[in-house]
Amino acid sequence: MKILVTGGAGYIGSTTAKALEAAGHVPIILDSLLTGPQAFVRDRIFYERDIGDRELVRRIVDEHPDLDATIHMAARIVVPESVEKPYEYYRDNVAKSLELFDQLEQLGKPRVVFSSSGSLYAITDSFEVTEDDPLAPTSPYARTKRMIEQVLVDMSAATTLRAIMLRYFNPIGSDPDLESGIYAKEPSHVLGQLVMAARGQRDGFTITGTDHPTRDGTGMRDYLHVWDLARAHVRAVERFDDVLASVDGTSVVINVGRGEGVTVRELITAFERVTGQPLPVTEAPPRPGDAVGAYANVDRSRELLDWQTELSLDEGIASALAWADKRHEVLGYE
Ligand SMILES: NC(=O)c1ccc[n+]([C@@H]2O[C@H](COP(=O)([O-])OP(=O)(O)OC[C@H]3O[C@@H](n4cnc5c(N)ncnc54)[C@H](O)[C@@H]3O)[C@@H](O)[C@H]2O)c1
Repeated sequence: MKILVTGGAGYIGSTTAKALEAAGHVPIILDSLLTGPQAFVRDRIFYERDIGDRELVRRIVDEHPDLDATIHMAARIVVPESVEKPYEYYRDNVAKSLELFDQLEQLGKPRVVFSSSGSLYAITDSFEVTEDDPLAPTSPYARTKRMIEQVLVDMSAATTLRAIMLRYFNPIGSDPDLESGIYAKEPSHVLGQLVMAARGQRDGFTITGTDHPTRDGTGMRDYLHVWDLARAHVRAVERFDDVLASVDGTSVVINVGRGEGVTVRELITAFERVTGQPLPVTEAPPRPGDAVGAYANVDRSRELLDWQTELSLDEGIASALAWADKRHEVLGYE
């Protein structure tokens, strides 16, 4: 199959492009390099442009009339920045996606797999969330994801457009050959901070928030290996029509996670197990906007995608550490 991957120069997009190739498919990358590094594109078919460029999308379809589906990952993704720059987030994530979907539909390329987020869910007492649980997006970034989901539901009900919306939980690690991974110079997420501490780039690790209503008081996430996440996209495009036929719908939402909640303290324990080194840990109050978290109920991904994660939390951590050692070779910085 030939698959258009918007945001294919990014962390998850470049890993997904690789997983598509590993399964015998051809990815076509559309990315403006707003944030994604050129090095992650490698030698793939590449259009360095903006997703809102309708003429370009027409050209891509003219040049690749055998395009089977689009995986739409291009987005601005930094939560605090979305609070400071809501216009840029709504314009780039929502308005430009709207142009992309309409153009694809008009060009007879209606299959869209969309990168949504597990951060849309309202907190539940059990922390486990199914696709039908209530949503409560708490930032402009998360609201852009929610709006695009609504756009896809409405457009696919009214037109030939069809959509599989994957709500990702927390991807970690690199691809098996360590060719792409986290490229932020100072990753702000928990595992990124732990990796920096283990490499001596931080004095230690600070747990922010120890009074949450979880089993040990710290925030909970559902970490999955990015290679597993990439493989979920391969399944989604390969089974696209069957998935929608089996739900008898024009669009569907599917959680993509390991289906296991891991608290910050549990993550630290796993991290120390993988490195074999104790890590200096301090505790501090929660930062504004810190969410307690959630983990995915994964029944639907098993049933519809015939997919489940194969890699463990420890393998994800080991992969993230290995990428941190390797990434200066790919990116030119530590
Ligand atoms: N990383 C996560 O934890 C996570 C969790 C849930 C959902 N997601 C979603 O997954 C997708 C990929 O995330 P990622 O972590 O790989 O992010 P990323 O920032 O590495 O990748 C996004 C890519 O999109 C490109 N881009 C942004 N705006 C563009 C535009 N207007 N036109 C063309 N290209 C554009 C950027 O250059 C970048 O390469 C995003 O949609 C994100 O919201 C990510």
